[in-house]
Amino acid sequence: MNFLFIGDLVGRAGRNALHKHLPKIKEKYKIDFTVVNAENSAAGFGITPKIYEELTSLGVDAVTLGNHSWDKPEIIDYINTNPNNNIIRPINFLKNSPGNGFKIFQHKNGFNILICQVHTKLFIDIPLNDPFYTLDNEILSLLDANKANYSFLEVHGEATSEKNGIGQHYDGKFTGIYGTHTHIPTSDSRILPKGTAFQTDIGMTGDYDSIIGMKKDNAIRRMRTGIKSNRLEPADGEATISGIVITKNFDEKVSIKSFQIGGIINN
Ligand SMILES: [Fe+2]
Ligand SMILES: [Fe+2]
Repeated sequence: MNFLFIGDLVGRAGRNALHKHLPKIKEKYKIDFTVVNAENSAAGFGITPKIYEELTSLGVDAVTLGNHSWDKPEIIDYINTNPNNNIIRPINFLKNSPGNGFKIFQHKNGFNILICQVHTKLFIDIPLNDPFYTLDNEILSLLDANKANYSFLEVHGEATSEKNGIGQHYDGKFTGIYGTHTHIPTSDSRILPKGTAFQTDIGMTGDYDSIIGMKKDNAIRRMRTGIKSNRLEPADGEATISGIVITKNFDEKVSIKSFQIGGIINN
């Protein structure tokens, strides 16, 4: 099967890139299942129900979030009431947080696909449970009981070291482990020693002529002055769609391919 993972969709430019490139990418790689990180899809901060519905109408099967999960308050109820519960937030959010940190999807071809997101802790200012402890307690038993034919862990976080630590620790448990959040793709896609496909960060789907998707002037002014009242707005030039394709067929080895298409980056 061919799985497509698309990195943090930033604002309208990111959504436009998805409209433009997703059908071609799905056709080229014969994609069976698509996951999009949409924590920045609503003007850079959070996601709205309308945008979620726009993404599903484009053929996105699962949407993941991150530290910006609740930036748009209307998603807080919707995450529990949307028709298919296909929005995944970090599994190590505090107990009683709305939504779910993983889901096992039943694909029409009969296979079960587990999608889980975990949040790292370094340089992140939101309350979180320990990522390792949470995964050990809530996910490993499902994997050990073969509840999923294919399993993917999205590691949302700032520090490459911590994302590598989680990737290496759970090598062999998941089909693929990949990072999101930094909005910059890393060029380290590979198969880890025990067989898990891995990339530290799959980059953003947004305008790269920016500061991680935001207009440059106010972002730089904030850095130079420390004044946070300079509003950050998504950059609106043509976006690059950035992500990975992971391919795994029953008894074959897994493979991973990174891509950036459109805008000012083409790899
Ligand atoms: Fe992000
Ligand atoms: Fe994030």
